[in-house]
Amino acid sequence: MTKIIHLAGISGSLRKASFNTMLLKAVAELLPESVSLEILSIADIPVYNGDQDIPDRASRPEAVNKFRKALEMADGIVIASPEYNYSIPGGLKNAIDWASRGTDSPLIGKHVSLMGATPGQWGTVRMQLAFLPVFNTLKMLHINKFEVFVSQAPKKFDAEGKLIDTDTSEVLKKHLDFFLATLGHQ
Ligand SMILES: Cc1cc2nc3c(=O)[nH]c(=O)nc-3n(C[C@H](O)[C@H](O)[C@H](O)COP(=O)(O)O)c2cc1C
Repeated sequence: MTKIIHLAGISGSLRKASFNTMLLKAVAELLPESVSLEILSIADIPVYNGDQDIPDRASRPEAVNKFRKALEMADGIVIASPEYNYSIPGGLKNAIDWASRGTDSPLIGKHVSLMGATPGQWGTVRMQLAFLPVFNTLKMLHINKFEVFVSQAPKKFDAEGKLIDTDTSEVLKKHLDFFLATLGHQ
């Protein structure tokens, strides 16, 4: 019997015309019917404040509780993010920090697929490297096969935001097949 899988997607960019949100949408299109992808918003998550982070989850800001709950419900996480100044965008790192807290963190032990798009030449490789110690400390299981580095992004998506580059689609498909197999999808 086909296993039903639910994924949570996070874009590291809030921009309406974000290439990374386009990439997440391309992921959604490539997934089989038995797999769903819910794209979560990090737009309303405030800057981390330890005074609001009391292990009673009702005390955390509402947007944080919503984000953590959605991650908890997911079998795996897909992050598509830009690289900012050779590293992880602050807003995304902040959201991960909020989700990382407490013994009930929804990140611990969770499989995560990381990818990124940039107009630049290096395909977000430095952002992806910057994530490795974060995944390590959170005991997140990083899918590092058929890695997805989208360089020169404006050439790879059309005006409607659809992924039109066949090489990128192929590696994305291989990456997702591997990810889903790891999650036990057949
Ligand atoms: C603060 C800031 C820092 C950036 N630093 C980098 C960088 O280090 N490497 C890179 O490839 N692009 C960098 N960029 C350019 C982004 O890759 C580009 O704006 C990209 O389109 C952002 O992703 P999005 O389209 O999903 O919003 C930077 C952009 C901003 C706003």
